[in-house]
Amino acid sequence: MKRILSGIQPSGKLTLGNYLGALRNWVNIQNEYDCMFFVADLHSITVTQDPKTLNENIKRIIMQYIACGLDPNKSTIFIQSHVHEHAELGWILNNSTYMGELGRMTQYKDKSAKQQNIKVGLFDYPVLMAADILLYDADYVPVGEDQRQHLEMTKTIAKRFNAQYGETFKIPEPYILKEGAKIMSLQDPSKKMSKSDSNPNAYISLFDEKDVIIKKFRRAVTDSLNTVRYSDEQPGIKNLINIYSCITGKNIQEIETEFEGTGYGKFKDTVADSVANKILSIQEKYNQLNKPENENIIKEVYQKGCERASSIASNKLKHVYKSVGFVVD
Ligand code: TYM
Repeated sequence: MKRILSGIQPSGKLTLGNYLGALRNWVNIQNEYDCMFFVADLHSITVTQDPKTLNENIKRIIMQYIACGLDPNKSTIFIQSHVHEHAELGWILNNSTYMGELGRMTQYKDKSAKQQNIKVGLFDYPVLMAADILLYDADYVPVGEDQRQHLEMTKTIAKRFNAQYGETFKIPEPYILKEGAKIMSLQDPSKKMSKSDSNPNAYISLFDEKDVIIKKFRRAVTDSLNTVRYSDEQPGIKNLINIYSCITGKNIQEIETEFEGTGYGKFKDTVADSVANKILSIQEKYNQLNKPENENIIKEVYQKGCERASSIASNKLKHVYKSVGFVVD
């Protein structure tokens, strides 16, 4: 069975972008692949986090994985920091990566432009991400479009390491579906929808209540053309059509026909309704899990996940150490 690996940072509340770009696809491929999904807590501290909130967010994400449909009996679910080999392989791979390459990462350029004191971790982030993937010999990495450049970096690092030390890493391929790969901000459709956006109207959180979801869609930035057409001249409407298409499974043509001659008001409300129904059903499952009596069940999920992940990771790291020339036995 081919192996899939992916993760999400616990740096805030999961958004509709995380769901449509990543989680939803993970759920759909659980039966076909050996799936490993983790919470990328080591990555999240590359920007300042409040420890108490971070702690809650990590557990929340595990519960949201399950509420969205990940089945712990089919997928290995774990917490990145529980498997110490991630950080260790990251260090090794630092020595197969050049500063110039990391400086060209667009996500680094965007994030560092907003800060005065830039952390080494923020700069080094794609190397840790490469370690996450290469540690498990992942065949495919299902992510949204914004992670494509990091995956290219992973391939570059792996090929360079293999060339220097002999075949050690499998070269992974991105698994990016066209639909949902880039869900845009509701307030500025030139920017991706992000959980760290300072304006909460820009994103839909998986914890938003129905009336909040409806209000956010009503406020979504569109244009004055008042026609529901999928075109680059109408980026706000294009984004809403994409969202509606992902949620309902209808294609673009069907959606354009459905809303022919109707104004934006009705269109936005219909999109909002479909999204709200999906999110409310996820919340219902989440609320069932999020009870004190279930704490142990959740703990068992990530402990069992860690056990399996650790056994794969420790073998791989030993292989890497041998390749590099370290004394391993
Ligand atoms: P993160 O936490 O930013 O996002 C998690 C996943 O959600 C996708 N995503 C989106 N997809 C579509 N539209 C959007 N607006 C949108 N926003 C987010 C992301 O592409 C991602 O798939 N570096 C990663 C976490 C990570 C990782 C890994 C992923 C660490 N190590 C190894 C894969 C493999 C990140 O910050 O994702």
